[in-house]
Amino acid sequence: MRILFLGDIVGRTGRQAILVNIETVRNKLDIDFIIVNAENATSGAGLSSNHATELLRAGVDCITLGDHAFDQQEMMEYIEKEPRIVRPLNYSKSAPGSGARLINLHNGKKILIAQVLGQVFMKRPFSDPFEALDFELRKYNLNGNVNAIFVDAHAEATSEKNALGQHFDGRVSMVVGTHTHVPTSDTRILPKGTAYQTDAGMCGDYQSVIGMDKIEPIRRFRTGMTKERFKPACGEATLSGLIADIGSDGLAEKTMPFRYKGLLNQQGMD
Ligand SMILES: [Fe+2]
Ligand SMILES: [Fe+2]
Repeated sequence: MRILFLGDIVGRTGRQAILVNIETVRNKLDIDFIIVNAENATSGAGLSSNHATELLRAGVDCITLGDHAFDQQEMMEYIEKEPRIVRPLNYSKSAPGSGARLINLHNGKKILIAQVLGQVFMKRPFSDPFEALDFELRKYNLNGNVNAIFVDAHAEATSEKNALGQHFDGRVSMVVGTHTHVPTSDTRILPKGTAYQTDAGMCGDYQSVIGMDKIEPIRRFRTGMTKERFKPACGEATLSGLIADIGSDGLAEKTMPFRYKGLLNQQGMD
């Protein structure tokens, strides 16, 4: 099974890049399942129900969120109706939706999609991501009741994402970091067979400060003063993430970085 994961969609340019290119990417690279993090897809903060519907209609198979999961309030209701959207497992106990979803593929295979939030340098303290995922995984067995398990590790610190990858190595098919929006070059298969990358990068305009128009972030760094809201940068987006081929035992056989269109294009598919 070939899985493509794409990091945080930032704003309109990121959404457009998905809508325009996703079918081409799926066909040219023979992808079976596409997962996209969309926590910044609507004006850089959260995901509206309209934008979620658009992404799913265009061919995205599953959407993950993050600390911005409910920045668009309508997601509180929408996530209860749409099983293809996953919020963090260790979010507030009263949060709507689910942090892990089992999805049935057309070929009869099953894939579990889960997301955890890190605790280091995040704006509010969330509960232990290791414990939350350990608990969830008690219900599943790779190559038993599930064919693949994908984990979105949504965290600020590279060390915490490294630790999550190593801790779950061999028990899940992929652990991929999100939230920092800059792709890391450590794509690899860990010793026990889990495909890993510390950060997938974003689907957004890289001529920016992590996807946002650069003027306001630079002002805030230099002066500590806020003048206006952050707005997503609007130049051409790069689709950024990784591909992994998952074998019949649920572990990764091959993995490679994926960067298509925009400033970081390395795919050479055109
Ligand atoms: Fe993000
Ligand atoms: Fe985030």
